[in-house]
Amino acid sequence: DEADLQLAFDSTIAHNDRIEPRDWMPEDYRKTLVRQIAQHAHSEIIGMQPEGNWIGRAPSLRRKAILLAKVQDEAGHGLYLYSACETLGVSREELTLKLMSGAQKYSSIFNYPTLSYADVGTIGWLVDGAAICNQVPLCRTSYGPYGRAMIRVCKEESFHQRQGYELLMTMMRGTDAQREMVQESVDRFWWPALMMFGPPDGDSPNTERSMAWGIKRHTNDELRQRMVDMTVPQAEKLGVTLPDPDIRWNEERQSYDFGEVDWDEFWAVVKGNGPCNEQRLAHRRKAYDDGAWVREAAMAYAAREETAR
Ligand code: 3HC
Repeated sequence: DEADLQLAFDSTIAHNDRIEPRDWMPEDYRKTLVRQIAQHAHSEIIGMQPEGNWIGRAPSLRRKAILLAKVQDEAGHGLYLYSACETLGVSREELTLKLMSGAQKYSSIFNYPTLSYADVGTIGWLVDGAAICNQVPLCRTSYGPYGRAMIRVCKEESFHQRQGYELLMTMMRGTDAQREMVQESVDRFWWPALMMFGPPDGDSPNTERSMAWGIKRHTNDELRQRMVDMTVPQAEKLGVTLPDPDIRWNEERQSYDFGEVDWDEFWAVVKGNGPCNEQRLAHRRKAYDDGAWVREAAMAYAAREETAR
């Protein structure tokens, strides 16, 4: 009966084993997984827009090929994640409609514009760097299909981060104008990258349960701290300054202290009032409408195949 099923579920979670699609699971566990995996997938798909903005203007064939590969990877990450989400009984169509209606979210970071080519490097270094901090623990998330999707995503994410850092390193060895372009880009993306980890733990309605269910393996603040500790030495090597005068090594904590995120900005962007929210959703809706004929043709073909059998 249900009590036995709950016990079996609790024991699987307690042993850090995987919950698989056919296993019994509490309805709230399923619901919060649909919420997080769908929004993770939406983030990958919307994230293609800011980077895609520079494919036609990459400064060399090599940089263009790398950026093309990265944007295609993001599409693939979206597809793995939508597939993982479908195992929980929702359809991709339903999730896409929820994204476009604003009923489901995507990461705040993609509501910022990419104003210079250096942003391509900064997004690789900081945004994909933050993604790595967040996604490596998700390889051990308690829901099987989600954790397995993360293994492949993390491998590709490290290529994204390396190519971004290498691009910035190349520019820093260039002219003063290129160095200024990199610094200006880092100044714009540093704080929004820290916002990717979500609100402070005390303001996070989902963290406690997600930790208890083994969906999250670390809290928002723990992963944000990991990102700062990883990135400060990289910024020094690169020769850029991070726009936070409060960053300083704390010997006792063996971590960097850093300043306070602007949480008013964070919640404004999450609620739809960031610089590019409207543009991103309008672009996604247009792609959906422009692709309607492909979906209709595929459905008509599938139906005809069905009747021909
Ligand atoms: N942008 C938009 N919404 C955010 C957000 C952000 N940066 N951070 C938090 N939120 C939302 C949450 O979704 C939640 O709203 P909801 O209940 O309607 O979903 C609310 O703010 C409160 O936040 P919580 O901390 O309680 O929510 P979570 O426990 O879900 O934690 C999270 C948020 C850390 C983003 C977690 O959902 C997570 O780890 N998700 C998986 C990773 C992910 O989605 N990454 C997005 C970046 S895109 C990416 O990494 C791709 C790479 O190629 C760049």
